[in-house]
Amino acid sequence: MCGIVGYIGYREAYPIVIKGLKRLEYRGYDSAGILLYDGKNLKVSKTKGKVIDLEEKSSNEITTNGTIGMGHTRWATHGIPNDANSHPHLSNSGELSIIHNGIIENYGPLKEELINRGYTFSSDTDSEVLINIIEDVQKKYKLKLGKAVQVALNQVVGAYAICVFDSKKPNEIIVARLGSPLAIGVGEGEFFIASDASPFLEYTSNAIYLEDEEMAIVRLHKPLKIRKIKDDSLVAPYVQELKMNLEQIEKGGFDHFMLKEIYEQANVIKDTYRGRLHADKGMIQMAGIEDNLDKFLYAERIIIIACGTSWHAGLVAEYIIEEYARIPVEVEYASEFRYRNPIITNKDVIIAISQSGETADTLAAIKLAKENGAFVFGVCNVVGSSISRETHAGAYTHAGPEIGVASTKAFTTQITVLTMIALRLAQAKGTMSATDFQKNLQELQLIPEKVQETLALTEVIAKEIAAIYKDVPNCLYLGRGYNFPVALEGALKLKEISYIHAEGYPAAEMKHGPIALIDEKMPVVVIAPKQAHYDKVVSNIQEIKSRSGKIIAIVTKGDTQVKELADHYIEIPETLDAFSPLLTTIPLQLLSYHIAVMRDCNVDQPRNLAKSVTVE
Ligand code: M6R
Repeated sequence: MCGIVGYIGYREAYPIVIKGLKRLEYRGYDSAGILLYDGKNLKVSKTKGKVIDLEEKSSNEITTNGTIGMGHTRWATHGIPNDANSHPHLSNSGELSIIHNGIIENYGPLKEELINRGYTFSSDTDSEVLINIIEDVQKKYKLKLGKAVQVALNQVVGAYAICVFDSKKPNEIIVARLGSPLAIGVGEGEFFIASDASPFLEYTSNAIYLEDEEMAIVRLHKPLKIRKIKDDSLVAPYVQELKMNLEQIEKGGFDHFMLKEIYEQANVIKDTYRGRLHADKGMIQMAGIEDNLDKFLYAERIIIIACGTSWHAGLVAEYIIEEYARIPVEVEYASEFRYRNPIITNKDVIIAISQSGETADTLAAIKLAKENGAFVFGVCNVVGSSISRETHAGAYTHAGPEIGVASTKAFTTQITVLTMIALRLAQAKGTMSATDFQKNLQELQLIPEKVQETLALTEVIAKEIAAIYKDVPNCLYLGRGYNFPVALEGALKLKEISYIHAEGYPAAEMKHGPIALIDEKMPVVVIAPKQAHYDKVVSNIQEIKSRSGKIIAIVTKGDTQVKELADHYIEIPETLDAFSPLLTTIPLQLLSYHIAVMRDCNVDQPRNLAKSVTVE
């Protein structure tokens, strides 16, 4: 995690770095820092808190202008969030400086060795150790900075995206990556460096994404040089044209990114299936699937690996792929899968789901699966992300940038992609009749409209319900079948942004323990659309009622039975069972959102979290 920004060129670096840090704050926001080189002196300002706090502090501490700058917004790993542990970190001579996203795992012994040789440290971070190793190597072997960085990186174990600057040679910044993302924006006579392209979108649409184990010497008025960290060999830079635009990453009149992203869902679901779903022709066409259809058709099983919300989308996919395409599916937490010595063969197809495409555990699980001969298919949102490059093939979700830390549109677009995959496989395998296939395509095409309708139906009522329950300490979420994963997702949304303890369960599991929690103070959100298991869910609701629990039900428009039992209800339009998560999720997102706002929580940047979890 952590966001890094660097600039070297002819413009004033300070505003570029500060604005860039604000855009990257979703990656971590417990402390921040900036360094500016004004042609003579290095100015550094750091603080615990957010970029806005840094802006206030640094405006007093950095009074000169400069055309070289580096900044960092932190998600603490080593050392508590305080001023001293904030980046940039300086070497003992004060000449070298570093910003670092990642973890140096062997920093302990390296630090001890440096201390024995007289080095001192002013922070608890692994990053300060790294900059001093670089200085040590540079001095010992009398190396240029680029070479010293390369030698030093070969001594460390861990993950990094770094920018290193030497105030004695101020015409270059050295950058390197292993396991953490790093993009270089290439302008005319200027370079931008950042964890993703958002900080430099208004300046250039040309970007180079460094690959793992690559470093670059970013030097003014010189062509960019990329080298392999291991053997120093040269790599030809690949400049990509960025498709993202600025508007996509601004709030567009909404109070929070999360709300904007909830409301974008109708449009982005359409973007997800645009060019892929052809209901009029009775076709689904996804390049990544067509090119590898045999792999899926002959797969003995599909293993889905993911974390958090993406894992919940994987659970929905398990239900739909098994029901529609009759291929066995297992869904695994990437963090468990990678360490439990799983049985993987070349007859397995792995689907890795990740919004950011940078989640460390998912990446490691992919590598493991590839080593064992499996075919790995990625479902990612961020174009050009590590996971999209590490997988054999894939399908982008096209949700556009998701800035709110709580995942919303990423979830529904992941489900849309996975639903299309299930349908295409069902068609190819002949496990679904042509009539049912066509019916599914027609209905999928209507989903954006129904999402829009759900938003309208939910708008007022979610706020009213939120006002009643905003102060409860606990909340239960129940669902069955396709809506069991939605219950998990609803609970995750509530806990991560409002800090209310919430648990999701398959409705029938309630009797096996959670029912003991139910009393008149316990709100239970029951996802009860009129579909398979409806009667059983009604019975579950009755069990809750007879123990005085408060029911907030998500029901299909026109429902009477559940409405009568529930204390509150939110209606959604009717759809096929398999597509209902695309609608039932929305009231739960809005409920969590309004509760969090009423509790005065930081909705877009909840405490202790980061958008992209690039550490394990
Ligand atoms: O970028 P990814 O989809 O790989 O991220 C996985 C999780 O970290 C993410 O879904 C997380 O659980 C969200 N905060 C949930 O809202």
